[in-house]
Amino acid sequence: MQLSLFQIIEALLVSIIFLYLLYYVYGLFFDKNYQPKAWKEAARLNKLPKQLQKLERKYPDKVRFFNFWFQVERLKKEKVSGDFAELGVYKGDSAQLIHCMDHSRDFHLFDTFEGFQDQDLEVETGKAATYTPHNFADTHIDTVKSKLNSDAFHFHKGYFPDSTRDLGELKFALVNMDADLYNPTKSGLEYFYPRLTPGGIILIHDYNPDWPGIVKAVDEFVAGIGEALVVLPDQDSTAMILKNKT
Ligand SMILES: C[S@@+](CC[C@H](N)C(=O)[O-])C[C@H]1O[C@@H](n2cnc3c(N)ncnc32)[C@H](O)[C@@H]1O
Repeated sequence: MQLSLFQIIEALLVSIIFLYLLYYVYGLFFDKNYQPKAWKEAARLNKLPKQLQKLERKYPDKVRFFNFWFQVERLKKEKVSGDFAELGVYKGDSAQLIHCMDHSRDFHLFDTFEGFQDQDLEVETGKAATYTPHNFADTHIDTVKSKLNSDAFHFHKGYFPDSTRDLGELKFALVNMDADLYNPTKSGLEYFYPRLTPGGIILIHDYNPDWPGIVKAVDEFVAGIGEALVVLPDQDSTAMILKNKT
């Protein structure tokens, strides 16, 4: 049987695609080269909860995941006191993994648990201008409570910053801000930064050109404090403010 040139090229292309798929699937399940040495060592010493290792395998943005882990480990090592907090919880995915990295901290969760509010959307440009109050509304506080299932969590349901009004004096070691919009990002920085313990950190997700409201709120805030902004090369660019110890 003689193959035509077309059939040979076709067979070659199919083999290349098959080999690439094989390589991809192998990498997905067995290649651990992307894991930092400190993580591998902690796994070897049985210091990583099984649930955290499972979450790591499933988490798509490895740089973001390991940055959370390095920051939480640093806070433990430097004995930075304070609670954890998240503004923008949605279904609780990132809160779940940060909690798994340190079960001992009280963890404050701020969200409407009903999606965005019109008053925040009105001022938006960029990707957020296409959003409506229906986005991120497919969640419920009770579902998130049963998913997170720990007394460490304190739920502050409602419009931020109104939901902070009756809170007592709190101090934070780590705050994850993931509210997508200018207004909550601005009021989040105004609320959390003065309550951040020296050595503590605020992480703001989506500091990139798709989200001009976030970039604007962060830049305006950082211009008024004596701290530098560190931007992480994770998929959506997390910006970080680390509070000076002196
Ligand atoms: C991108 S989602 C958060 C994703 C979440 N961190 C995760 O792990 O999947 C953004 C969330 O911010 C909340 N949000 C935005 N503006 C808010 C405001 N002013 N007050 C309270 N929650 C707000 C929305 O309800 C939505 O659940």
